[in-house]
Amino acid sequence: MIRTQVAIIGAGPSGLLLSQLLHLHGIDNVVVERQSRGYVEGRIRAGVLEQGTVDLLIAAGVGARLLRERLVHDGFALGFDGRTFRVDLKGLTGNSVSVYGQTEVTKDLMDARVAAGAKLVFEAAEVALEGLDLARPTVRYRSEGRTHEISCDFVAGCDGYHGVSRRSVAPSAMQTFERVYPFGWLGILADVPPAAHELIYSNHSRGFALCSMRSPTRSRYYVQCGLDEKLQDWPDSRFWDELQRRMPADVANAMVTGPSIEKSIAPLRSFVVEPLRFGQLFLAGDAAHIVPPTGAKGLNLAAADVRVLYRAFVERYRTGNAGLLDRYSAECLRRIWMAERFSWWFTSTMHKFTEDAFAHRLQLAELDYLTGSTAALTSVAENYVGLPFESPA
Ligand code: FAD
Ligand code: DHB
Repeated sequence: MIRTQVAIIGAGPSGLLLSQLLHLHGIDNVVVERQSRGYVEGRIRAGVLEQGTVDLLIAAGVGARLLRERLVHDGFALGFDGRTFRVDLKGLTGNSVSVYGQTEVTKDLMDARVAAGAKLVFEAAEVALEGLDLARPTVRYRSEGRTHEISCDFVAGCDGYHGVSRRSVAPSAMQTFERVYPFGWLGILADVPPAAHELIYSNHSRGFALCSMRSPTRSRYYVQCGLDEKLQDWPDSRFWDELQRRMPADVANAMVTGPSIEKSIAPLRSFVVEPLRFGQLFLAGDAAHIVPPTGAKGLNLAAADVRVLYRAFVERYRTGNAGLLDRYSAECLRRIWMAERFSWWFTSTMHKFTEDAFAHRLQLAELDYLTGSTAALTSVAENYVGLPFESPA
């Protein structure tokens, strides 16, 4: 039997960041992950960090490479109706965002945890949570042919949308909210210079497309695709052709194409569970909520949960006061719903839902209004750079 203070399920960004912050504050924890370390470090996902996320990573002691290698973006572009409009994030809000891959965030956190001698269990099978309503719950898993048990004070469910934590709670104890979108994103990573210095989100009659990047020599591109699309039907040549058709002509003409080094399809979903706490179990990150990726909010929202949760644990262990833990759910859900709203709105405005020409004209009118109104643009920019926190990281 292993004994610890906080058992963390999942070694994605939420689990690793929570583990690192708790460690820095002297709180013992064990991370239990279903996949191998290599698999977790190889996953290609988010690319845009809010300043609040950057601040939290710095507070967690993993900011050095991030600050050296990130690309600071003071704006992004909206492509629609054959034109391109720059949203001046810095001018409208005073803030910028950082382009730095989730893969790199995960590597930095993993390296820091391993260097500190963290207890990380990889390739844990049949992970099960028990006694969540008892003072000391148990986490059970199988590894190397044996069953192991962790006895802890609290469980942090950081195991993503498909994880076991949320599923360990009786459905009658929770309320879930969900919207599934009738399309996905087909994404590729390629070692070619980005098509532009900043991101371009494009509304096109053929469907949405996004130009993003990871570095001055590595690009990340997405096109909206049908839910039944198969990767084998998308050779690189077809992807580049479709992307270029959906981008403004000057961007398409300047685009450098090349072989993809990764290609994947992601479905789009909005999802929230309420509350986030069930006895001694606290859900954080994608285990508790999913946003469609258009607003680049998923990873940032996960970090925002961890920011509240680690402080709550620190207060509980330092003073015995569980007030912050009691408020965890309500405090996080406010921000979660605002990010859900923004991500839903941005997705709805930029994607093709049906062949309905009326709906497309309404989207174009909305973008036309938005780009002509400083008030409307400021609202979008505020949400994109991340809503303010009440306290520093
Ligand atoms: P995850 O990253 O899902 O990690 C959960 C971990 O738990 C995984 O390692 C998993 O293997 C493990 N696990 C699962 N089940 C179990 C189990 N039973 N037992 C033990 N471990 C388990 N967000 C942004 O902020 N900006 C962006 O630009 C952005 N772009 C995105 C683009 C795409 C294409 C996608 C798919 C997502 C994007 N996101 C973005 C969202 C972001 O990637 C997620 O919100 C983020 O990964 C959430 O982190 P997490 O640690 O909560 O969950
Ligand atoms: C990326 C993903 C997003 O969802 C987004 O809004 C911006 C960038 C990316 O992977 O680079």
